[in-house]
Amino acid sequence: RSHWYVCSYDYRVSTTLRCTTNKKLDLSVFCFYLVFHFLTSLVWRRFYSLQLIFDLLDIMKCNSKKSVVIVGGGLVGSLSACMFAKNQYEVNLYEAREDIRNSGLSEGKSINLALSVRGREALRRIGLEDKLLAHGIPMRARMIHGQNGKLREIPYDPVHNQCIYSVSRKFLNEILLTELEQYPDCNIYFQHKLINLDVNSGNVTFYRTEDNSETKITDNQLIIGADGAYSGVRKCLMKQSMFNYSQTYIEHGYMELCIPPSEDNEVCL
Ligand SMILES: Cc1cc2nc3c(=O)[nH]c(=O)nc-3n(C[C@H](O)[C@H](O)[C@H](O)COP(=O)(O)OP(=O)(O)OC[C@H]3O[C@@H](n4cnc5c(N)ncnc54)[C@H](O)[C@@H]3O)c2cc1C
Ligand SMILES: *[C@@H]1O[C@H](CO)[C@@H](O)[C@H](O)[C@H]1NC(C)=O
Ligand SMILES: *[C@@H]1O[C@H](CO)[C@@H](O)[C@H](O)[C@H]1NC(C)=O
Repeated sequence: RSHWYVCSYDYRVSTTLRCTTNKKLDLSVFCFYLVFHFLTSLVWRRFYSLQLIFDLLDIMKCNSKKSVVIVGGGLVGSLSACMFAKNQYEVNLYEAREDIRNSGLSEGKSINLALSVRGREALRRIGLEDKLLAHGIPMRARMIHGQNGKLREIPYDPVHNQCIYSVSRKFLNEILLTELEQYPDCNIYFQHKLINLDVNSGNVTFYRTEDNSETKITDNQLIIGADGAYSGVRKCLMKQSMFNYSQTYIEHGYMELCIPPSEDNEVCL
């Protein structure tokens, strides 16, 4: 038995693939894929890492049962779940929070996302692009407010005049979860928080906040860690020897400001 890990990093996210196979994988093929992955991820980021996973599984043919456990039902978890489901996988998705479709806006998550061509491409592949664009607000330029009150526009695409779309993060996450439920072999388990992943056996343990119990899922062939910035999956992988990890913070933070219009409905900034 050999185990392979593929990790991809965004500026605050890591996605980790674990795969166990009895067949021997040609190491050079694997290295090629890592290099390929690195190059494409510079351009395409997370979306292509998912393509990499499918390609790898094709090569390894290790997943005869075609089932996947996904930890985290945020943007990456729910999107990749749809893609696995579309590829005829049985999908079991575990999310620590309760179903966001029944809850209010969580703090710090109200800020809209700017959806670009990469995100649109991913959504197109699961048939949700139009739905999102209908809801999104086109943003053609960045507005710079000078201290002297002067305004200056910086267009995002002065050449082809394309734009990015501002979409609600919660809405995006909600339609991804709803889309996932349309597939036959998919189960979403809310209020299931990963507390342990045994790297050697592939057993995962979840804490169920509903009734304070623990549940252990065994015999997993493929586990996707999509549990965000402080990933529990990654924390468990870090217990492996020779596992390097580093985290750095950017020096500035961000703040959400709501500036209501004036009485005559003008922009007040
Ligand atoms: C202020 C801000 C602005 C941003 N703006 C943009 C933008 O304009 N455009 C853009 O493309 N990106 C933007 N991003 C980045 C984008 O939000 C992230 O890349 C994206 O949310 C990452 O998705 P994710 O699914 O990996 O993580 P998350 O969306 O954080 O989801 C992780 C999920 O895993 C769950 N979870 C966590 N721990 C566990 C556990 N132990 N067990 C089970 N489940 C667990 C969480 O509850 C959560 O639902 C922004 C980020 C920030 C902070
Ligand atoms: C994983 O689960 C299997 C099946 O229940 C069990 O036999 C095995 O001991 C478990 N391994 C660990 C390390 O928990
Ligand atoms: C871990 O990082 C250190 C410092 O960057 C480096 O010297 C070492 O070779 C790395 N180890 C592995 C296993 O990658």
